[in-house]
Amino acid sequence: MNVDDSAGAGGRVVPVDPQRPEPSVVERAGRLLRGGGLVAFPTETVYGLGANALDDTAVRRIFAAKERSLNDPLIVHIGGLADLTRVAVDVPPLVEVLATSFWPGPLTLVLRKSHQVPDSVTAGLASVAVRVPRHPVAAALLRAAGVPVAAPSANRFTRTSATTAAHVQEDLAGRVDLILDGGAAPIGIESTVLRVNQDGSVELLRPGAVSVEAIDAVLRGAGRGGVARRAGTPAGAPDSAGRAAASGRAGSLDTSADDGPAASPGQMLKHYAPRARLLYFRGPENAARSAMRRALRTALNQGQAVGLLRFEEDRAAFRDMTDGTPGLVAEDLGPASDVAGVGSRLFAAMRRLDGAGVAAIYIRSLPATGLGLAIDDRLTRAAGGRVIDLE
Ligand code: TXA
Ligand code: MG
Repeated sequence: MNVDDSAGAGGRVVPVDPQRPEPSVVERAGRLLRGGGLVAFPTETVYGLGANALDDTAVRRIFAAKERSLNDPLIVHIGGLADLTRVAVDVPPLVEVLATSFWPGPLTLVLRKSHQVPDSVTAGLASVAVRVPRHPVAAALLRAAGVPVAAPSANRFTRTSATTAAHVQEDLAGRVDLILDGGAAPIGIESTVLRVNQDGSVELLRPGAVSVEAIDAVLRGAGRGGVARRAGTPAGAPDSAGRAAASGRAGSLDTSADDGPAASPGQMLKHYAPRARLLYFRGPENAARSAMRRALRTALNQGQAVGLLRFEEDRAAFRDMTDGTPGLVAEDLGPASDVAGVGSRLFAAMRRLDGAGVAAIYIRSLPATGLGLAIDDRLTRAAGGRVIDLE
């Protein structure tokens, strides 16, 4: 590996202006990437752990650093639609429509892979996931690197995504050549992943920062049907459970002839998880609050340290418990009505509760529309099955 020696192996953190990234910093990070190094960088969604997507050895270092299983493919980041032909082939015309509406931005498209992309990036799949990030640091880094950059979220495998450079350090210190600290990732929830099939049909693989409603509107505008939301559990994905199978929410993707048994990677039920057990109370807010109060009371009576992820609207309902109750730590997510604000605070708040050493974290649902669908997905996975469905 020909890594620039100025970074060292210690995972140096270098501040970078999130709006006007300093060219000297970005150039150095770009050189590192070209030389086979690992660079963590902010995107508008979460921090990414990047490597040259065309360099098999560099890509393997990502999996090692994250302790990520090799059957979970990576997203390839490119600077613009013009670079798509470097990583994808047989690109359906609809991609241009989606790219015009959503790139640069938090939409990832799964397309047929070019043979230039090593199998390590795609976990052997015939498809590749591609996105054009909008964050100025990510955009500048891609220009400086001059190569497509494979980058999963910069957290240890299955853990909560990193939304700050400090989170990256927490999980990956000593395993990364350079961490660009551009402040908090503004959206805080990962990109939406869509498969675009050769026949122009579109399937939701992971709800994310671009809402299904917004994608549907663009598809309808182009005279197409909406996004297909598959339910059910894919064959050959041992950790998957058929969450959402009955609810019609975004579920796991079926395996297809195109892609073989790992077609639904990243859909493991336990993912995005804090260390503490997360209990997710899903249903009408009053029922959820009452159930949470009962469960919290029981846990506190047993002497457990517990964490509450609290919405502004719920302050009064929990006040008697949060005011001075030993063992209960509350973290504020802001108003439930401000879903974008909740999204931007969620992962950091989970990490703070982990830092406080609580054994369990309690949170209630928001309506699963817009960004709320992605939040519901992340909480369901963070709960790893501990979803309390209320009527
Ligand atoms: O916002 C984001 O998407 C962030 C930033 C860094 O760009 N990245 C991110 O990457 O969340 P990661 O690796 O944590 O999640 C990528 C998701 C996984 O669920 C993965 O399985 C899926 O995309 N994916 C990647 N390639 C795929 C493919 N060829 N077919 C189906 N799913 C794929
Ligand atoms: Mg991830």
